Amino acid sequence: MRISLRQLSVFLSVARHQSYTRAAEELNLTQPAVFTQVKQLEDSLGVALLDRIGKRMQPTDAGRVVVEGARETLDAVERMEMRLADMRGLREGRLTLAIVSTAQYFLPRLLGQFCDANPGIEVALTVTNRQAVLARLAASEDDLCILGTPPEGLDVVARAIADNPLVLIARPDHPLAAEVNIPPERVAREPFLLRERGSGTRLTVERFFRARGLTLPMRMELGSNEAIKQAVIGGLGLGALSRDTLALEGATGALKVLDVAGFPLLRQWQVAYPRGKHLSVVAEAFLDHLVAHARQAVEAGAAIARIAKEAAQE
Ligand code: PGA
Repeated sequence: MRISLRQLSVFLSVARHQSYTRAAEELNLTQPAVFTQVKQLEDSLGVALLDRIGKRMQPTDAGRVVVEGARETLDAVERMEMRLADMRGLREGRLTLAIVSTAQYFLPRLLGQFCDANPGIEVALTVTNRQAVLARLAASEDDLCILGTPPEGLDVVARAIADNPLVLIARPDHPLAAEVNIPPERVAREPFLLRERGSGTRLTVERFFRARGLTLPMRMELGSNEAIKQAVIGGLGLGALSRDTLALEGATGALKVLDVAGFPLLRQWQVAYPRGKHLSVVAEAFLDHLVAHARQAVEAGAAIARIAKEAAQE
């Protein structure tokens, strides 16, 4: 039997429109070309597929059987093509991510596992602050964005992937370092080192104090988490950071997490993308990977810090 997919799809179009002319328009073919394709199909199958009733071409009984078979065949071919495209996607796709700077302490671990499993994938990673990530999210510039708290005021899909507690830190010889259950009012009398405007870390900590009628006395504004840590170690004041930024310094004892009432502020890492955005196969796969493994990666960072701290104390 010498029937082709082309003949089947032309026949389906004629049967749907009940007209050679309308099928020719839909398929961008001439009317005789459509007629020839259907004729060849009829010849191969040895049955008449269409009856002319008035102006309409209607499928015969055999024609209805062929309509059904043609649909199933073309659907199966389409599914096969989609599966092949997906396989190519994971083999040689590209993944673009925008993450807030505090996420750079755990995300590369997850990215490393993902790239090991899918070595052909090329990754572009933008690390910046919350405000800039929100702008990129609004403009749909990346496949996925990672933030420290849910994005507000944007029509996006956001999923919590792991805990993201925010802590206050001091140098271990700071007078508050040995105290417990320190009232926020007491903390708000100390000079503070804050991230730049647009930072989610700064926004969160300022909101906490503002809700209690307190303003943090800012000693210095610094543009990165590392700069905050170094300035706290340098004795310039107290700082606020996502706990996940502290894996190393917390462990070496160079920084102390303060026991302030109301802290740590409990937040959740979020992965987000614009609602309605078509995610590539690669983006879908990384999203699944994040949902499955982010919690574990974040905990692994905290565990490394605990083990190193215990080793340092022995
Ligand atoms: P950021 O991080 O301070 O780098 O904007 C956001 C966050 O942890 O909420």
